[in-house]
Amino acid sequence: MTAGELRATMAHLASSVTVVTSVLDGEDVGMTATAFCSVSLEPPLVLLAVGEDTRMYDALLDGSTWAVSILPASARDVASRFAARGRPSDRLLLAELAWRRGPVTGHVLLDAAVAVLECVTEQRVPAGDHAVVIARVVGVRTHDPGASPLLHFRGRYRTVGPAASAAAARINPARTAQFPDEKCR
Ligand SMILES: Cc1cc2nc3c(=O)[nH]c(=O)nc-3n(C[C@H](O)[C@H](O)[C@H](O)COP(=O)(O)O)c2cc1C
Repeated sequence: MTAGELRATMAHLASSVTVVTSVLDGEDVGMTATAFCSVSLEPPLVLLAVGEDTRMYDALLDGSTWAVSILPASARDVASRFAARGRPSDRLLLAELAWRRGPVTGHVLLDAAVAVLECVTEQRVPAGDHAVVIARVVGVRTHDPGASPLLHFRGRYRTVGPAASAAAARINPARTAQFPDEKCR
């Protein structure tokens, strides 16, 4: 099995898209991440896999604080921008967005997020070319419970829900008739 085959296979795992935020060298930093999931309710733990070649790898050390904004369907451009290598400055990206500081950690939380979490790293486990960061959740907020999330599936950003299937029907009625249960586009 090659790395390409593994990547292509894992692309079939639909994931929510988040922007993880923290501080590095005194500056707010953000990174698009899909390798984020819930681990435990008691105690409240979540997990994030961070690539060793990212700035977030240096920011999310043991005991560090960070935050997660789960992106809405409308935020494809936000996801793309915070995933761009060599972008000039996250401060400039954030200047174009509405956000506020988390009440517990003080990290950036995007106003447009479907939901936000604030976290404190408890364990950092080296795992190949990533680190698995296990963190305690110290704050949560859900914004609009009816909002559709942004998903990443087979290498593309997608949306789910009635709005997505209605739009898909307008774009390609034949395809929607062929796959009536398909809710992605
Ligand atoms: C859809 C998508 C999901 C991503 N998920 C992750 C992830 O879960 N963990 C990670 O370390 N990088 C992930 N990345 C890559 C980072 O967003 C990208 O490498 C980013 O440029 C790193 O930030 P930096 O350039 O400031 O280090 C993802 C990229 C995309 C487009």
